[in-house]
Amino acid sequence: MVVMPASKDIIYDPSDPMVMADPFPIYSRLREEDPVHWSPSLKSWIITRYVDVRDLLLSDDLSVKRLTQFYNALQPADAETLTDVVHYLNLWLAFRDPPDHTRVRKILRHAFTTKAIENMQPNIAEITEFLLDRLEAGNTNNIDLISEFALQLPAFVIMDLLDVPRDMFDDLKTWSDDMAVFIGGARNSGDKYARAAHGCQQMSSYFRELIKERAKEPRTGFLMDLINARDEGDKLSEDELVATCILILFAGHETTTNLIGNATLLLLRYPDQLLKLKQEPALIHSAIEEVLRYDGPTNALVRVAAHDHELRGRVIKEGQRVFVMVNSANRDPQEFPDADHFDITRKQNRHLTFGKGIHLCLGAKLAREEGRIAIERLFARFPKIALDPISPPEWLDAMVPRGTRRLPIILNKNKA
Ligand code: HEM
Repeated sequence: MVVMPASKDIIYDPSDPMVMADPFPIYSRLREEDPVHWSPSLKSWIITRYVDVRDLLLSDDLSVKRLTQFYNALQPADAETLTDVVHYLNLWLAFRDPPDHTRVRKILRHAFTTKAIENMQPNIAEITEFLLDRLEAGNTNNIDLISEFALQLPAFVIMDLLDVPRDMFDDLKTWSDDMAVFIGGARNSGDKYARAAHGCQQMSSYFRELIKERAKEPRTGFLMDLINARDEGDKLSEDELVATCILILFAGHETTTNLIGNATLLLLRYPDQLLKLKQEPALIHSAIEEVLRYDGPTNALVRVAAHDHELRGRVIKEGQRVFVMVNSANRDPQEFPDADHFDITRKQNRHLTFGKGIHLCLGAKLAREEGRIAIERLFARFPKIALDPISPPEWLDAMVPRGTRRLPIILNKNKA
């Protein structure tokens, strides 16, 4: 076995604004010089090569059950604040190992089949046109694409799936953002535990009430299927049902918002690629895959070592936190020829943006469809759309998701 010497002089600081705007140069150094990197400031391992990221996600060396350990290490006051949050998050599919993971995933699977997503297409298209009509009718050319389009589209799709009235958008967004500061690993937020607790409390009470109402007046649909699974005895507990609604709402919107934002940004930054897409609209599918690879919404996934194990000569100890750097893996030249080239015609594109292994994203088909429709229609309705030369994009200050908080755009509605 080749033992890599640890490179001492690489400092990976995800909160450095230069790294936030463009993390890829430091990923390249890490991949080459210290692919299994210990970060003293993050107290975590940083894994950056494609083959390691893929193999770790497929192996049982790492576990997703990281919350209990985190919770046990908290100060008593923080632990009390977070009791409910940790209770619900521990019931999320994304934080469970088999056999519970297998049981719950089986119940959810049928809502995200190819057929189910096909049936959702007219709804996605209707929501997209509604939002674009609103932009068209607005009295300004300068907008923030995130808050005025990319946020609502996936949120409305998921709210419709969960049978949540659309006028709940603002409330759900606030609660979800409160939880996101905790889950997404955002920094610079001193009160993040209290915010997460508040968001979780509001969200769980809301879904508990909604479930009660729907159970009184049964309808068809995804939420009703979940309620029936609960009522069929040992398939889904009441708390699992509530936790699953929160997970679907949460998982289903921010990531897709970032896909739409990152796709728009990349196509506007690379006009040659946009031109290719306009000349050959069928390239939209490979264009979406290339956005997912080149600068996708999954910067990193978080795991905890299930047992002591060795990787490239470094010993990862049971319980240590591991950041599996998906966006770095997606730029590994060992897997992707000309990896730093944004090429919407790329054919072999086995990116890891939807994860790998048993936790592979359940909503990948839905996300791809939303991304496709959003980008096709946005550029069709506003063919002269441009980046705002005065206000640059503002990136999220977070280690797990990757996207822009604000994406200032000029619609150029009236330009011939
Ligand atoms: C571009 C958009 C999206 C991206 C990049 C994305 C990415 C991911 C990734 C990387 C995972 C695996 C997490 C891990 O291994 O720790 C995941 C899991 C999951 N995603 Fe997505 N996702 C997206 C959209 C969606 C949508 C639209 C939904 C549903 C409506 C969804 C539902 C889920 C669920 C339920 C899981 C948990 C699966 C499990 O643990 O078995 N995702 N997603």
